[in-house]
Amino acid sequence: MDTLRDLWHGYAVHETGTRNNPADALSAIEAASDQKTLDEARVAFLGKKGRLTAASAAMKDLPNEEKPAYGQALNVARSAVTTAIDGKLAQLQEQADQKSVEGIDLTLPPRELLEGGLHPLTLIKDRAIQILRRMGFALADGPEIETEYHCFDALNTPDDHPARNEKDTFYFDSGKLLRTHTSSVQIRTMEKATPPVRIIAPGSAYRRDEIDATHLSVFNQLEGLFVAEDVKLGDLKGTLEYFLRALFGDKTEVRFRPHFFPFTEPSFEIDVKLHVKGQAPKWIEVAGCGMVDPAVFTSLTASRGDDLFDPERVTGFAFGMGLDRLAMIQWGIKDIRQLIDNDTRFLKQFS
Ligand code: PHE
Repeated sequence: MDTLRDLWHGYAVHETGTRNNPADALSAIEAASDQKTLDEARVAFLGKKGRLTAASAAMKDLPNEEKPAYGQALNVARSAVTTAIDGKLAQLQEQADQKSVEGIDLTLPPRELLEGGLHPLTLIKDRAIQILRRMGFALADGPEIETEYHCFDALNTPDDHPARNEKDTFYFDSGKLLRTHTSSVQIRTMEKATPPVRIIAPGSAYRRDEIDATHLSVFNQLEGLFVAEDVKLGDLKGTLEYFLRALFGDKTEVRFRPHFFPFTEPSFEIDVKLHVKGQAPKWIEVAGCGMVDPAVFTSLTASRGDDLFDPERVTGFAFGMGLDRLAMIQWGIKDIRQLIDNDTRFLKQFS
């Protein structure tokens, strides 16, 4: 430092006054207690109107032989000041960092990270799709906001059928509705397809049900449809028994109970026998199904204007499974509302 000061004194002081002593700069920097005062010091010495800048400008008035030494002194002074500023800045930063973690125990283990997982409904849906695709069913889709035509009329459902009641179904002012079942996808698909048709359509359905342990107003179905020449009731039975055993295990008992749907004839509800430890086994309904009613093909034939789906040519079966029910059976879930509560204690068990 002494050399620096000497050099400085030799040249700068005599030209621009004692304030140019770089030692002043160094002590101002050293004294800076925060970034703001440090920055002020930087501007005062290195800034456009700073002292070192002024001292450099003064060089031009010196006799030529003195210029090299003077210039060298300026360089030494500038780098001394710059180094001091950088050092001080690092020191201030470190102090600030230390202050910001004061009272925090850095040795504490971090908070547990929640790992994501698939929702049980997604798991059962994916599994069901996997099995049915292996059997030759392709994925199909349709809108959740449906016309009465696709949801009811084309499915041979008369005007006075209870499902069409405002009490049971969500209607829009436009006359459209939230589909009450995925069976509307049967019609949407057959409107465009050429037989044979073999599709499945998972998706949401909506009903104005009283919400309880087994009912929600939004639930999930998986529709299936197979139409070709000579599809028989035995095909329906074999397909669904195979499916349910592939899903729940070889020994699963399956029961077809006669039922009524406007768009299938004959129609059945399918029950699966559920065994819960410590409880008497019981039958749980998992699906509706049946042979496509010829009336559906007749109405379709009229709207298509061709005879590809003429009931004299094709027959078919259809089924609609409750995916929520399948999930409840698969994992012994007692209350369907757990599927929408998003309670991580419940969901964690599936990841
Ligand atoms: N759509 C019927 C329901 O939601 C189920 C079903 C589908 C029945 C296909 C027969 C054929 O209850």
